[in-house]
Amino acid sequence: MCGIVGYIGKNDTTKILLDGLKELEYRGYDSAGIAVLGDDKIDVFKALGKLHNLEEKVNASSSRDYELGIGHTRWATHGQPTELNAHPHLGEYSYVVHNGIIENYKELKEELINLGHKFVSQTDTEVIVHLFENYNNKLNDTTKAFHNTIDRLEGAFSILLITKADPSKIFFFKHGSPLIVANGKDENEVLFASSDAPLIGLANDVVYLEDGVGGIASAEGIEFFNDNYSWATLPTSKQFAQKDGFRFFMEKEIYEQSDVVSDCMLGRLNDDEILFDEIDKSLIDGINEIKICACGTSYHSGLTASYLFERLSKVKCNVEIASEFRYKDPLLTKDTLFIVISQSGETADTLEALKMAKAAGLKTLVICNVDNSSMTRTADATILTRAGIEKGVASTKAFTTQTVVLWMLALYFGKANNIIEKDKLQKELRALREVPKSLIIDDAMHEKTKRLSKRYLHGHGFFFIGRDVFFPLALEGALKLKEISYLHAEGYPAGEMKHGPIALADPELFTIALMPQNLLYDKIKSNVEELSARDSTICSISPLDFDLSDDFIKINETDHYMLEFFEMLIALQLLSMEISVRLGNDVDMPRNLAKSVTVE
Ligand code: M6R
Repeated sequence: MCGIVGYIGKNDTTKILLDGLKELEYRGYDSAGIAVLGDDKIDVFKALGKLHNLEEKVNASSSRDYELGIGHTRWATHGQPTELNAHPHLGEYSYVVHNGIIENYKELKEELINLGHKFVSQTDTEVIVHLFENYNNKLNDTTKAFHNTIDRLEGAFSILLITKADPSKIFFFKHGSPLIVANGKDENEVLFASSDAPLIGLANDVVYLEDGVGGIASAEGIEFFNDNYSWATLPTSKQFAQKDGFRFFMEKEIYEQSDVVSDCMLGRLNDDEILFDEIDKSLIDGINEIKICACGTSYHSGLTASYLFERLSKVKCNVEIASEFRYKDPLLTKDTLFIVISQSGETADTLEALKMAKAAGLKTLVICNVDNSSMTRTADATILTRAGIEKGVASTKAFTTQTVVLWMLALYFGKANNIIEKDKLQKELRALREVPKSLIIDDAMHEKTKRLSKRYLHGHGFFFIGRDVFFPLALEGALKLKEISYLHAEGYPAGEMKHGPIALADPELFTIALMPQNLLYDKIKSNVEELSARDSTICSISPLDFDLSDDFIKINETDHYMLEFFEMLIALQLLSMEISVRLGNDVDMPRNLAKSVTVE
């Protein structure tokens, strides 16, 4: 996830910006840059890869005194990680750094190109600085030009902008992505950052900007565009700040899901269709079948997608665990689109499966969180999930964004092949728009999982059961629990229990039953009744209260099973985490596991 810093003051501007970017390193990035202004001149430094590359470039230049500057770490979303695509972005005389996604950048870019502006990067961000200069050239008023620019942008944008046209100021605005402005400890000092960590030690009082709030900062002070702001005290612990105040990275990532899903959908969800700039229609021409390959959690999102592809786009879809696929002499036909799913893009088995499919001449697509990874470099096409760096070994937000991308892809296929009816598509798009809301965590639910964890850590085994897409969700719930609590857990299709596993049922066998109201409720209900009759301890997760369950996690009533899916996912993630906490385990780095499995 991208990071922003900014500084106005008498101290060493380049050092403060570079130190600030270092504090944001944990969020992940593939390039970085700073633009610094002194004596009415702006110098800019950009570098690919780690921050020491940028530092070397800055140190190699003959240093000057800079009065202010802005800096950025970039996690590629639009365009490859290259120096040209790295921020800050230049117009003729201004620079901008930006977090978020400009949804209407294509229209704006076209308009500006027609007006004679020259673009050098593939990013959405560059339109901001050209738009600003376009207005400023006409109006000769930087404040009005900045306001006009903001008014034209759609999407998510937190921005810092500097310009030689008004060299003592930093223009700022927040919409969507986080941005903080602070008064520095020294006199006439102003700092900016996209999270607390870079500010700790340098500032005491900060404003966590609300959406729609912006302003202009200079050595004379900070002028806000409206009154919707208040000063707050900065936390003092950096570790705490990196986790945005959460106890674990996993917890932070669970809570981030609503936001990253919004990012994931930005620009891809239109009024009446799904758009993927990254894929060409030719990728799906002549495709009669989809084969998905992945490992672990990514495999579970693939399995979920297989139900969605067949239901929504009527394309045959099968899913395989990559390590199994590799050695089975798979039959591959050229009318198959081969999709791999991976958070890291580096998992050895998945990468090898992708190479096999390519060698067999299949069209290939990767759904991935890390641009420029081995898989994105290998596949014909990439759809990035935009989840930002995931630090917890137990995957959470990667799964959510993968599943959302795959759901959108199923609709894209359905529309492209004229399979899905208009009303049905509209209903699906409406539901997709509701996903970020369904991922907002209700305190009561989190509390409930904390309370349940007290008793549930004593189980001798767990079954997670569900039907249809709730079966892969059950597998994912069981995997989360295994990974971080070290308790034995299995995910099972609810209808299969009576074909053997029900023999295990007893009061210490805990069954987590996923009981959506909108999909096969009566069927799952009878499966749970069968288990209850054998004295299994049952925790149901459902919008509907169920007499026979011992415990109940209530989710909201909705009109789409996928919204129930995502709310249940949150409950499962929180429950595993709280059990792990009570057991005193390392939540973020569970034993025996690595974040990225680059060996067979
Ligand atoms: O990076 P990938 O998505 O390819 O990783 C696949 C699995 O190793 C990963 O999902 C693993 O199962 C996680 N620890 C699950 O929480």
